[in-house]
Amino acid sequence: ATTKLWGGRFTAKAAEWVDEFGASIHFDQQMAAEDLEGSIAHATMLGKQAIITPEESAQIVAGLKSLQEELTLGTLTFDVKNEDIHMNMEALLTEKIGAVAGKLHTARSRNDQVATDFHLWVKHRLPHVSEALTELQETLLTLATTHAGTIMSGYTHLQHAQPITYGHYLLAYFEMFQRDYERFEFNNKHTDILPLGAAALAGTTFPIDREFVAEQLDFSDIYHNSLDAVSDRDFALEFLSNAAILMMHLSRMAEELILWSTYEFNYIELSDDFSTGSSIMPQKKNADFAELVRGKTGRTYGALMALLTTMKSLPLAYNKDMQEDKEQVFDVMDTVIASIKIFTGMLGGLKVHEKRMLATTQDDFSNATELADYLATKGVPFREAHAIVGQLVLQGLQTHTPLQKMSLETLQAAAPQIEDDIYHVLASQTAVDRRTSLGGTAVSNVKKEIIRNQKKLEAR
Ligand code: ARG
Repeated sequence: ATTKLWGGRFTAKAAEWVDEFGASIHFDQQMAAEDLEGSIAHATMLGKQAIITPEESAQIVAGLKSLQEELTLGTLTFDVKNEDIHMNMEALLTEKIGAVAGKLHTARSRNDQVATDFHLWVKHRLPHVSEALTELQETLLTLATTHAGTIMSGYTHLQHAQPITYGHYLLAYFEMFQRDYERFEFNNKHTDILPLGAAALAGTTFPIDREFVAEQLDFSDIYHNSLDAVSDRDFALEFLSNAAILMMHLSRMAEELILWSTYEFNYIELSDDFSTGSSIMPQKKNADFAELVRGKTGRTYGALMALLTTMKSLPLAYNKDMQEDKEQVFDVMDTVIASIKIFTGMLGGLKVHEKRMLATTQDDFSNATELADYLATKGVPFREAHAIVGQLVLQGLQTHTPLQKMSLETLQAAAPQIEDDIYHVLASQTAVDRRTSLGGTAVSNVKKEIIRNQKKLEAR
């Protein structure tokens, strides 16, 4: 026998570097608190069910509680010789209370133990994602309230398309983050399920009480198939997938923050405390944090691809491949929470150059649709109206004259239906105000939407 916890049937001992390759303690110690929590619930249940004596159960629980204290104090040390957090904790417990510690693992396997720790770890942290999202959404609503009437160019293909309001733009992101929020809520439903009691893969012959353990650990549901319990990582994949979608949203907004703070756009200015300078160019003010969030989106996608690929084709039930699940999730959890918070900070201190935004809607041709629609309401078939306005735009581009600066004679020469109310119609303010269709950019709509969305946040 070797000295390993599982060393009974072994005669030869692996080299240290081989053990190190198999070990996970350098990262799974992040689940130390969850491991102790799970073990306390398990030991309590073993005592209650008379699988071990009440005294043994009490001794084990007391030992685990004292390990909890040491963990909080930061005095626990782990050893790579003990491979992972589960065997490290058992070794520490044995040091503390002696051989009775060996009874803790009755009716349990590391397979259902690691699954339980991992579920708990994610379950404990999903609320932090939700809180951070709520704060970001609140910040968006505040900014949208200030800018419900701030007119700017709306883009398609990054070309001026039609005027919109900056408030309307901000609410578009509010909607995306609302869906993200709902996705994480659903993710929580699939995380909030107890695997413990599945044992290695087939269940156990001991008269365990899984409902009791679920209650102790505050799980709302219990895995009803032991094979699924130990081999399911969907909750982790859902988390990574939700995180990838959320980061994609952040990266799109990041791109706009970066682009819009350039000299060429000059729509916005990030506050100094969310910008950086250059070591050589004294004039520089860079949107480093927005860039970094955009960059970290790649890392998040990578984590999702990594775990999907790890899980692909794995036969049931547990396989050691699955030890690769945790680092991705740990990393992405930190990444998303930090990225959301950076965004909340950046948007909170954002300076918006309203005049500049408005100005870009005044000498472009983003009111061309208004003129075509105007002609259509006067009975000109829309296709024909489109062609007439296209000609006028061409003429305007050649003479550097926006539509609203053309004389009535010029306009009427193109289409006699045009009257002098056209100048009101062509104003970007009018273009925005008239877009009152459900979901449109009209200021009145934006204000209504802000109230509707505020109620959603209040209901959380
Ligand atoms: N460290 C392992 C993991 O993270 C724990 C489960 C090990 N189980 C086993 N049968 N080798 O997946």
